Amino acid sequence: MDKKVTVVGAGHVGATAAQRLAEKGLSDVVLVDIIEGVPQGKALDLMEAAPIEKHDSQLTGANAYEATAGSDIAIITAGIPRKPGMSRDDLISTNAGIVKQVTEQIAKYSPDCILIIVSNPLDAMCHVAYEASGFPKNRVMGMAGVLDSARFRTFIAMELNVSVENTHAFVLGGHGDTMVPLPRYSTVAGIPITELMTPERIEALVDRTANGGAEIVGLLKTGSAYYAPASASVEMAEAILKDKKKILPCAALLEGEYGYKDLFIGVPVKLGAGGVEEIIQIDLTADEKTALDKSAAAVEELKGVLAKL
Ligand code: NAI
Ligand code: 2OP
Repeated sequence: MDKKVTVVGAGHVGATAAQRLAEKGLSDVVLVDIIEGVPQGKALDLMEAAPIEKHDSQLTGANAYEATAGSDIAIITAGIPRKPGMSRDDLISTNAGIVKQVTEQIAKYSPDCILIIVSNPLDAMCHVAYEASGFPKNRVMGMAGVLDSARFRTFIAMELNVSVENTHAFVLGGHGDTMVPLPRYSTVAGIPITELMTPERIEALVDRTANGGAEIVGLLKTGSAYYAPASASVEMAEAILKDKKKILPCAALLEGEYGYKDLFIGVPVKLGAGGVEEIIQIDLTADEKTALDKSAAAVEELKGVLAKL
């Protein structure tokens, strides 16, 4: 393969992302983890599935970073996930140290790569990776909006008994309880859902989306979601690897857009070979802007926590 993606963290999200990258034939994959044997074992297991799944991606496992050299993309999933009763924000001090350390290693061996951050609390971890890498802002982004929008799309399709392929949705803001699903910009076959459902039903779906991560944590009890998060991360990687110029909601560094400065938060961006090639500014109603302001304030608060670590 002429493309190489490193996935740091060979746990639930990381290993599933590696599987999806390989099975879609998008790239070779290097899986890195601190636990000896685990990335090597999972990479070998995935390689042994290749003759059946019919792909030629090479998968390698490692505990050090030499094997990651020259990666086009690094997806960072290293860290701890939340357990029932924990918020994403409870992970901040542990995961900030991990994300800083792994980003420094990635930047050392792949100085030209694009970083897709997954570790939580997502928006704060983007700030950590941005600073630790020294990369320009177009090469550092976070995965959350694609996942949150996919959850919203799933619930819309379930509610209206239509194909998920007919649904489109935008969820902006920070990846937390204050995320901002936008029903006005969410459609079924191009028809806004505000014309297809009562405000009460839309509110119920919005609420389920905002609590979508907690719903899975409550069911799994030992960790958090990983199938949909892996799919979301790989959709972003594919848009970059194939230079698709795809508009997706991603955490990106804002420098004045939407009225925020020096803040990573979820907004629609154009993803292509250059990473975040453009931040798309959509019109928001006063209520939508108020909700986004609240979400931005929550991320600012986490930045304050980071500054004290
Ligand atoms: P997991 O516990 O299954 O995997 C995490 C892996 O990271 C473990 O294998 C661990 O050994 C590894 N790790 C820890 N420190 C490391 C280091 N210094 N270097 C390399 N590897 C290291 O957790 P899971 O479920 O894969 O979640 C990973 C992270 O992603 C969590 O922080 C979780 O909250 C976050 N997440 C974020 C989502 C989003 O929408 N942004 C969605 C789902 C998960
Ligand atoms: C989620 O939303 C844990 O952030 C992760 O599932």
